[in-house]
Amino acid sequence: MPTDPTNDYRFGYSQDELKRLGDQHRVWAADNRRFLSRAAFGEGATVVDLGCGPGYTTLDLARAVGPEGRVIAVDRDGERSLSLLRERAEEAGFSNVETRVAELEVFDLPQASVDGVYGRWVLMYLPERAVAPLIERVAGWLKPSAVCALAELCNYRHIHIHPPSAHLPAIAEALMRAVAGDRGCNPEIGNLLPGLLHRSGLRVELHVSTKAVRATTPEWLWPDVLFRDHLPALVDEGLLSREMLDAFLAEWNERSRDPGAVFFGSPMMEVVGRRP
Ligand SMILES: C[S@@+](CC[C@H](N)C(=O)[O-])C[C@H]1O[C@@H](n2cnc3c(N)ncnc32)[C@H](O)[C@@H]1O
Repeated sequence: MPTDPTNDYRFGYSQDELKRLGDQHRVWAADNRRFLSRAAFGEGATVVDLGCGPGYTTLDLARAVGPEGRVIAVDRDGERSLSLLRERAEEAGFSNVETRVAELEVFDLPQASVDGVYGRWVLMYLPERAVAPLIERVAGWLKPSAVCALAELCNYRHIHIHPPSAHLPAIAEALMRAVAGDRGCNPEIGNLLPGLLHRSGLRVELHVSTKAVRATTPEWLWPDVLFRDHLPALVDEGLLSREMLDAFLAEWNERSRDPGAVFFGSPMMEVVGRRP
């Protein structure tokens, strides 16, 4: 599936991609619930969802803050992602979700105006130079005792399969280069977050989550769809050779039929920063 050349989100906004984000959300749902409970966004809170996409976590946030609370869901893609989020919020009966179309490189809110900020798998798609200024602004939006919860990948070299794959390290490397793109994004931006939140004056708590899924289970779809949908574009862009892709997919097909095969993803840095 080709990426959409009219926008800068690496994987585009096709129906397949919006669905892939939902499948990915389900695989990480238990970890995300634990992360949200560490952040403890309370009833009546105003919480911002940075780079919310179709809003898979937004609705969990809407539930957590309740009818007296409010979720401000921000994404650069108003047309597809935010429309879908509004439909889903309406279907689920949430009237406390407000959507904003904005580029996070420049998005801003008044000082000390919110109780919480959440963001997952979004800072990795911003140019790295834009991330520190964004974190500074986020820290400024927080009221006293308010919480910022950010989750981002932090180690593509950990991505592996058992039984081992001869080709996966090259695939992971190509995916990293694709996410980095020519805008200087950092696919492992999770490594920088603890320091950035600390320097913005927040009290920082860390947790690292890892995810392994077994072939022949529904969760296998998470890596399977990513590889099948998005690797061919990497060949077109010269980030991966056709021979490497074919060799990897032949091996991947074999692993996919083996109920003993396990795929391990990149660890995810989950950082909670509290304003004192
Ligand atoms: C991988 S999706 C993650 C969606 C959601 N946070 C989740 O956890 O399922 C990344 C989202 O970030 C948004 N995004 C990427 N760069 C952005 C930017 N510069 N400003 C606003 N949104 C951006 C994309 O439009 C996309 O919806």
